[in-house]
Amino acid sequence: MRRVFSGVQPTGNLHLGNYLGAIKNFVLLQNDHECIYCVVDMHAITVKQDPKILKSNILEVAAAFVASGINPEKSVIFVQSQVSAHAELAWIFNCTARLGWLNRMTQFKEKAGKNRENASAGLYTYPVLMAADILAYHATHVPVGDDQRQHLELARDIAQKFNNDFKADYFPITEPVIMGNATRVMSLRDGKNKMSKSDVSDYSRLNLTDSADDISNKIRKAKTDPLPLPNESCLYSEKKFNEDIIANRPEAVNLLSIYSALSNESLKEVVLKFSEKQFSFFKNELNQLSVETLSPITKEMRKLLEDKFYLEGILNNGADKANSIAEPILKDTKEIVGFY
Ligand code: AMP
Ligand code: TRP
Repeated sequence: MRRVFSGVQPTGNLHLGNYLGAIKNFVLLQNDHECIYCVVDMHAITVKQDPKILKSNILEVAAAFVASGINPEKSVIFVQSQVSAHAELAWIFNCTARLGWLNRMTQFKEKAGKNRENASAGLYTYPVLMAADILAYHATHVPVGDDQRQHLELARDIAQKFNNDFKADYFPITEPVIMGNATRVMSLRDGKNKMSKSDVSDYSRLNLTDSADDISNKIRKAKTDPLPLPNESCLYSEKKFNEDIIANRPEAVNLLSIYSALSNESLKEVVLKFSEKQFSFFKNELNQLSVETLSPITKEMRKLLEDKFYLEGILNNGADKANSIAEPILKDTKEIVGFY
């Protein structure tokens, strides 16, 4: 069976982009795959975290997984730092990955910003730990949002180089799974910026913890342009907008894509439904749909977070299962490398 692995960082403010780009797909995949979903706290500390807040954010991601429909009986849900194979394999892969490869990582450049000298060494080798996460389970498929494409390419390069260096056909070459119509959800305040946990404006994103009123306010205030919604001529194909509208009307593109992902209707259906209508009308519909989808998740998350024992039980059980898969793979890897 194909094995799926993915991770989400416990860095607070889980948002609609995390849901549509990742978690919603995690739920869909568990029907016909063996799935392993991880709260990646070791990735979170590559930038400064408050220990108390980190702890509560870890439970919040676990709650979001379960509230969104990941079934802990079917899929493995666990915390990265509780399975030591991740750190051990990451070290070995740090010796496989080349500096030149890491120097090309655009997310490091974005996150480190101008003051690169002051970024942690962990932030620099972040994608190597990510490769270890995936390969510690011999995962073949990795569902992520579009922003993780380059990191997954690196995981493939690491697997390939390791296999070549040791003349061992050992690690699989992982396939990225970037699915749905919202693989890159943009900020509600600026259609050219990604929706992000760290944006200072809370109006830029719909959080999974937002109330129905918060959602309505944010959608009402979402940036648009003065024109009515586009007609069919904005489509390049059934599934893609054309370059012109992407460049000139990014907010319209973003809101229509969000609607399409939430409603499970194709882009073409959505564009036809709102063709040449006013934004005010469309925003009302988008608001209703967003509240219908997100409110039950928010409610369930709150309920789960009141029962920490239950969540901790899921995570402990998940760590045991994860460990039993990763341990033999780590053991083989050490053997291949020549460790005593
Ligand atoms: P992170 O919060 O960085 O750990 O991301 C968790 C998952 O959400 C990853 O698969 C990301 O690719 C995905 N993701 C994060 N932001 C967005 C976004 N704005 N649109 C779509 N997917 C996203
Ligand atoms: N880097 C990913 C992100 O920020 C999270 C992540 C860590 C991950 N390890 C992973 C995703 C392994 C997929 C597979 O979104």
